[in-house]
Parts: sequence; C-alpha cells; structure tokens
Amino acid sequence: MADDAHIDISQYMIEEEPFYQPTGDEVALYEAAYARRLPVMLKGPTGCGKSRFVEYMAWKLKKPLITVACNEDMTAADLVGRFLLDAEGTRWADGPLTIAARIGAICYLDEVVEARQDTTVVIHPLTDHRRTLPLDKKGELVKAHPDFQLVISYNPGYQSLMKDLKQSTKQRFTALDFDYPEPEVETGIVAREAGIDTETAAKLVELAGRARALKGHGLDEGISTRLIVYAAQLIATGVEPKAAAAMAMVRPITDDADIRDTLMHAIDMVLG
Ligand SMILES: Nc1ncnc2c1ncn2[C@@H]1O[C@H](COP(=O)(O)OP(=O)(O)O)[C@@H](O)[C@H]1O
Ligand SMILES: [Mg+2]
Repeated sequence: MADDAHIDISQYMIEEEPFYQPTGDEVALYEAAYARRLPVMLKGPTGCGKSRFVEYMAWKLKKPLITVACNEDMTAADLVGRFLLDAEGTRWADGPLTIAARIGAICYLDEVVEARQDTTVVIHPLTDHRRTLPLDKKGELVKAHPDFQLVISYNPGYQSLMKDLKQSTKQRFTALDFDYPEPEVETGIVAREAGIDTETAAKLVELAGRARALKGHGLDEGISTRLIVYAAQLIATGVEPKAAAAMAMVRPITDDADIRDTLMHAIDMVLG
C-alpha cells in the first residue's frame, strides 16, 4: 500500500496576478484572517467575484490554492480520499481536502451547501484548534500544515430550509459579504475583462441594474457580473450589442415570457 508521497505543489500555485478589483476592505480583512488561519466564508450571489477574490488572495499570499466545486453527489470520500485498486494492489489516494491539509494550501470549497450535510461535517476538525483531518478508512490522523486554510462560498439567495449550512458549521467561519459592485466599479471590471470601451460597458451595467430590480418580482436572482462580462466578450468578438445582451443577459436567467419581454424592452431602451 503506497501513498501519493510526492505532491507537485507547483500545479496549485497561481503564477500570474489575477485581475481583482477590490470593492471594500475585503483584502485587508482576508489577510488578517489568514494571518490567524481563521476559516473564511465568502457570502454572496453567483458570479459576483468570490472565486476571483480567492484566486487573487492565493496569488498575493503566494500559497497554493485547491478549489473543489461542491455538488449534491459529492461524498466525504470525494473530499478526503479513498482506496483505489490498481495493478499493484490497493492504493490510497488523497482527496483534495487532504492534499490541501498536507501541503498547506488554501482549500476553497465552492458552493459548499450543495454538498450533503454528512459531507460538510468532515471539515469540522479542520476548522477549530485541532486543525486535523481524520482519515477513518485509512486509519490516519492528518495534522494540517501550518499554512493550511479553509475557505467556503455560500449563496444566501438560494438557500432553502432543506439545504442550508447547519449553525454548527456556520459558526466555525468568519465571513465576508460579496455583492455586485457599484455601477462605476462594475463598468471598469467589465471593460477590462472583455476589452470593450467604457461607454458600452456602462450600458451593459445599466441594463443589469434594471434587471436586478426585478429580483423578487419574477427573477430569483439578478444578472451576475459574470454574465455582463460574457455579453461584453460577445460584443468584443463582433456580435451586435443587443444580440449579445439577449444571449448572455436574458436567455440564461429566465424562461418566463413576461420577464423576457420586460428585459428585451430594457435592451431596446438602453442599447437601442
Ligand atoms: N471584483 C472583481 N474583480 C475582477 N473581476 C470580477 C470582479 N467581480 C466579478 N468579476 C468578474 O466576474 C466573473 C465571475 O466572478 P466569479 O469570481 O467567478 O464569481 P463567483 O462569485 O460566482 O465565484 C469573473 O470571472 C470576473 O470576470
Ligand atoms: Mg465561484
């Protein structure tokens, strides 16, 4: 039985500075949390910059980053590891959380509520003074590397009662609130990300602002910064702005004919 003894850390390093536009004091607060290795929860709607922020912080702190996209089929073994059978026999393979704990990475569990609660509890001993991860099946207690830190993202918008983090999990994290940036800031992000002019970017942001006002009036969630960037990228590729906006900012978010009409009308007003 052999371990994956050698882990190539370089694959988890972020070489180039990711573009991240701060919107408040989140960089300083995160650095303070990291200094004490406090677990951090990033709260906010989808597509508002949470993942980009973690990438930026990992780059800034020069720490490896291991991201896990959580989903409802994920089991604890997908996080911690499992025995595999291969030609040589039985081999233990560390999961991403275990690798992160061993090498001292920032482990980012994206959309952690998607995972079942019995999966979520495996992170508990890593989040308190123990800083350990028991590999029950393997009979090993992994002591987290001093640089290890746990980060999770959480979208308060679409939490149902059935699917929410338990208080016993929530209360193990510090938290930062994320939201869509202010219009001027978001305009700068969109222009920069897609390489389009500020004037067009500003119009897309205005359109998104109008759509966000429909949240709770037929729309579950507003248009994300990510979708505005997509529209801008289509425009940069030569797609006509109204078609780009319909493709990236209307069709993905709703199938409701009335809301689509309202949004298409807004496109005509803003981009017409
Ligand atoms: N503050 C920001 N700085 C730079 N880019 C941003 C920022 N906020 C959002 N973006 C853009 O929005 C996209 C989606 O952000 P992401 O971090 O993936 O969202 P999520 O909150 O879902 O993790 C990014 O790829 C980037 O283009
Ligand atoms: Mg994300």
